[in-house]
Amino acid sequence: MDNRPIGIFDSGVGGLTVVKEIVKVLPQEDIVYFGDTARLPYGSKSKETVTRFSAQDVRFLLSKNVKAIVIACNTASSNSLESLRQMFDVPLFGVVLPGVQEAIAATKNGKIGIIGTAATIRSGAYARLIQEQRPDMQVFSKACPLFVPLAEEGFVQNTIAQLTAKEYLGELTEKGIDALVLGCTHYPLLKRCIGETVGESVRLVDPARATAMQLKDFLQQKDALHAPTQEGKRSFYCSDDAANFSALCERALKQSYTPRIIDIESY
Ligand code: DGL
Repeated sequence: MDNRPIGIFDSGVGGLTVVKEIVKVLPQEDIVYFGDTARLPYGSKSKETVTRFSAQDVRFLLSKNVKAIVIACNTASSNSLESLRQMFDVPLFGVVLPGVQEAIAATKNGKIGIIGTAATIRSGAYARLIQEQRPDMQVFSKACPLFVPLAEEGFVQNTIAQLTAKEYLGELTEKGIDALVLGCTHYPLLKRCIGETVGESVRLVDPARATAMQLKDFLQQKDALHAPTQEGKRSFYCSDDAANFSALCERALKQSYTPRIIDIESY
């Protein structure tokens, strides 16, 4: 039994889609969430900057005495997980490997599409892991940077979102993919629009659920689950005002939370 909280961080509010899945799978766990809203987006930054920011995010969560940390950000997971594991002792979970395993299980024709931020796609992490496990499969990657501001703005199903999705995803559907990894925590917010654009024959893979399951398995194996209780405590922190935070919490968690603002540069 370990009643310490689970730490979760993202560059902003997108990681709430991962919190949602963790809460479903581990409702009794306490959660401390940090969204680096002052320095968003991570997806347009260099590997070095993403790693420096992520290390500060981890230090902040460690100050909250967390027992494990989930990097609920594909950009940080794909660029910085290995470096962070060398820097910190705490168990760290990224979203890329669970997404890869899910995609491999989902595809029938072996053609997988990956969409993510520019930094995630540039890292090649998804494609590399898929090819390592299944060299027979084909991977087609596409950076879709505009999906992040669209999701932040709540433009998830209007004409602008639909045209953007058509522009980005056309070349992937032409390749005949039958599985598409939503390799950015903001993208599940656009799931309907993306699904309608690629069509029913393409399975959408959101790594969040598989990440939550991996975390649960780990805590079970280590006998580190929280003692049984009604519902865990949830605390939310951001590095700057996030006007849409409460609305997204409402959407993802069916409850409104107000985040506390912290100075991440001091960590
Ligand atoms: N949450 C980030 C991710 O999953 C996307 C937003 C950003 O660019 O910071 O990659």
